[in-house]
Amino acid sequence: MNIGIVYYSTYGTTFALARELADAVEAAGTEPHLRRVRELMPDEAMDDNAKAAAQAQADVAYADVDELPSFDGLLIGSPTRFGNRAAQMSQFLDQTGPLWQQGALAGMPVGFFTGAATMHGGHESTVLTMSTFAYHQGMVIVPMGYTSDEVGETSSGGGPYGPTHYTPSDGSKTSLSDHEIGIARHYATKFVDIARRLN
Ligand SMILES: Cc1cc2nc3c(=O)[nH]c(=O)nc-3n(C[C@H](O)[C@H](O)[C@H](O)COP(=O)(O)O)c2cc1C
Repeated sequence: MNIGIVYYSTYGTTFALARELADAVEAAGTEPHLRRVRELMPDEAMDDNAKAAAQAQADVAYADVDELPSFDGLLIGSPTRFGNRAAQMSQFLDQTGPLWQQGALAGMPVGFFTGAATMHGGHESTVLTMSTFAYHQGMVIVPMGYTSDEVGETSSGGGPYGPTHYTPSDGSKTSLSDHEIGIARHYATKFVDIARRLN
């Protein structure tokens, strides 16, 4: 089975989460296809950290709308922007109109992941607002649920809506916590299990 992991990341943390998901999808015996969504910000609007993160992602192939129907499951990730997905991800998803017309994604299992600079600034709302895409496409949303004891722990990202990261802008936490990694890997394993049952 082929699992697409399509993400956008300015500073690299959502990219790190996407890589954990890809690694766990592979460990579960399926093939991950990591794809990044194109940057829309002009070069002059990007600070040094964003430029460094973009450089680190240079080896990842760009997401292609026409490739999406070939996947057996799709994981979609974007950092929070004012409690919603980033414009870069919206622009990509807005290109899937022809797939919607064909019903090409209907029935495909899908999950969403995100990250935010504050604990209460958009983890859940971003997963929920991204998920309207799946309703319109007729996809099968796979929630995390409280399927592991770790899900109830609230000091860093990840919850019943899906894998997330908490990356405060004061630089006090710059990488994924063990908890965020554990919960993301747990989710990926569960996602593959559901995808197998649906395919
Ligand atoms: C324009 C803008 C809006 C943002 N809005 C929020 C927000 O509503 N809540 C929040 O907690 N963080 C917010 N952030 C912080 C980002 O979510 C955070 O930088 C991002 O999750 C880091 O992920 P990345 O490393 O993948 O880019 C915002 C950042 C930017 C640039």
